[in-house]
Amino acid sequence: MTRRGSTTHCLVSVHNYNIMDMTILEAMRSRRSVRTYNRAPLDQNQIELLTGCVASAQSPFGGRVAIRLRLFNVAAGYKPSTYGMIKGASDYFLVAFAKGDRCSELTAGYRFEQVVLKAWQMGLGTCWIAATFKQTVFEEGVRWPDGLSLQIVSPVGVAAKERSLFERVSRSVVGSDRRKPFGKLFFESDFSTPLSSESRFGESLEMMRLAPSSTNSQPWRAVVEGDTVHFYYVDKSKLAMIDCGIGLCHFHLTEQYRQSDGRFEECAQHPAAPKGVKYLISYKANAV
Ligand SMILES: Cc1cc2nc3c(=O)[nH]c(=O)nc-3n(C[C@H](O)[C@H](O)[C@H](O)COP(=O)(O)O)c2cc1C
Repeated sequence: MTRRGSTTHCLVSVHNYNIMDMTILEAMRSRRSVRTYNRAPLDQNQIELLTGCVASAQSPFGGRVAIRLRLFNVAAGYKPSTYGMIKGASDYFLVAFAKGDRCSELTAGYRFEQVVLKAWQMGLGTCWIAATFKQTVFEEGVRWPDGLSLQIVSPVGVAAKERSLFERVSRSVVGSDRRKPFGKLFFESDFSTPLSSESRFGESLEMMRLAPSSTNSQPWRAVVEGDTVHFYYVDKSKLAMIDCGIGLCHFHLTEQYRQSDGRFEECAQHPAAPKGVKYLISYKANAV
């Protein structure tokens, strides 16, 4: 992925941004779900870049996940159904198969989001879809390892100039343009003291805050203790682990961008969580 010192070149105007190089942080800040596309096909270079990213995306959480870039020959009448949610998609969809355990779901979120961000850096939109697609159509003709099931699909293509009415309504219904305030998600020492956004982990947690999640639920919470961040999740949705994988991807890529890598580990000693909130994992920063 893009780090400080290495670049991804976007030589044309991308998402109405006139930029030459979109860093991974800019991609996290500007990305949004795209549900209305301009029907333009992907070119060979885009297909190769995306396929390379699908193959190379890594996760620290293990588990079993298979991600594919799938071609649907729409001209030949093969129509991937998203029940009208997506308009004007290209022939290509990203699909993710995963086992149903916690590590696999974290990895599915973490790895798929790397591809989503790479697509955005290339000027391509995506939309995570977990519920509103016809499973049999997306599974047909594709091979994936035994024991995995289809969890996520996403169109990938160029955003249309205007959003469909359906897209505008669905963004408004789930409040896609609003994220919870930083101080309501992230804390210092315990769950009663809001963390300052100026703190050592402020930028990485801010990137987690901006991550996409199912129905914009933002289940991630964190408590910082010295050089350790303890992560928690609100245990309300079946998609919480995938959502947390996405949030942790944003957090970790930002740590790596800042060249302050660390490691994820389970920590038996962590601050007690309020009702409905469960401990997930901790991140220990390496000494600089
Ligand atoms: C795991 C996951 C599942 C999602 N499932 C759907 C879906 O089934 N249909 C849909 O229209 N959007 C879906 N979304 C998109 C979210 O509604 C969207 O990410 C959220 O509202 C935030 O908006 P943004 O992505 O534009 O920042 C999903 C997102 C995630 C992360």
